[in-house]
Amino acid sequence: MSQAESSIAQAPQHRGVINRYRGWLPGIPDHAVATLGEGGTPLIEAPCVSEKVGASVHLKFEGLNPTASFKDRGMTVALSRAAARGERLSICASTGNTAASAAAYSARAGMTCFVVVPVGKIAMGKAVQILAHGARVVQIEGNFDDALRISQRAAAEMDDVALVNSVNPDRIEGQKTSAFEISESLGAPPEALALPVGNAGNITAYWRGFSEWRDAGYSEHAPRMLGFQAAGSAPLVEGHDVQNPETVASAIRIGAPASKEGALAAMRESGGLIESVTDEEILDAQLLLAREEGVFCEPASAAGVAGLLKLAGEGRAPTGTVVSVLTGHGLKDPDVILARNRLPDPLPADFDTVADYMRREGG
Ligand code: F0G
Repeated sequence: MSQAESSIAQAPQHRGVINRYRGWLPGIPDHAVATLGEGGTPLIEAPCVSEKVGASVHLKFEGLNPTASFKDRGMTVALSRAAARGERLSICASTGNTAASAAAYSARAGMTCFVVVPVGKIAMGKAVQILAHGARVVQIEGNFDDALRISQRAAAEMDDVALVNSVNPDRIEGQKTSAFEISESLGAPPEALALPVGNAGNITAYWRGFSEWRDAGYSEHAPRMLGFQAAGSAPLVEGHDVQNPETVASAIRIGAPASKEGALAAMRESGGLIESVTDEEILDAQLLLAREEGVFCEPASAAGVAGLLKLAGEGRAPTGTVVSVLTGHGLKDPDVILARNRLPDPLPADFDTVADYMRREGG
């Protein structure tokens, strides 16, 4: 083995959130642990966004989890515990990412996974993942909120079925580990955390994580929680459920968030806010991240940065160290990019033509 090879082999490996944070999580017997090495995602400095916002903004890139979204942190806990109880089937409602993650971790845990999704509303990358992992897909002629009602009833009335939506407390427990990682990476929790809000499980989970970290004496403070919903799907901002939620950010197209109370408590207790951003603001933030920071996230994931930019425009931006959670990878939703960009017509295989093109476009 060369020296380079041996140093790679000896580098400490991140082996998943259960292994790393076991003492903070509900009990899981060793034999039942279903992990794909989730967590340990990078916290990336964002100089361009920082300058626009007037704070030191970092991006927690959760799109680099095994199924390319933050859902994996909760799914490893939920599926491991379901397997330990001897359950054979899992079920979830989803706008796509929960389903992709449940499909992968169910495969890992040896369980059969049912995913209930709104017909025609799942981004392409997520649909491909669900099919690849062999989940049984139920497409309903309804929206996410209908799908969740059906899934909850199936788990309640049928034998051996584990509901793995974030109403399952194991999901929240797993997802809170990202707050620990952020606090450890920065040496202290940030002043504020900005993130998208859909079914509201993730904001609930982060607030629990930061609160537990502080209460255990590892930090003096917990961050302000800044949640952002898409303007056409903003029940927490409007103060009532939305019957027909609409937004380009399909991951957060949800009209009746199941963890509404957790989200409102996070906002209140942290001195934070939950506001909305338009589809245009979301897509602009997604492009800014891709083109200026080199980080490609899906539209919903850009809602946190869109929100920070909006607050900055109104002179209300947080100061100090701010983390924005990029919840899912941009490859999940290729159609959003292809709708606004296309590959150019081919050129002849000729150096001069290519050189001309480079001189024109090179700036
Ligand atoms: N970002 C992405 C990429 C998501 O997939 C979701 C939720 C959220 C943000 C919002 O998180 O629901 O905890 O407030 N996706 C769920 C799903 C609903 O089915 O994949 P939340």
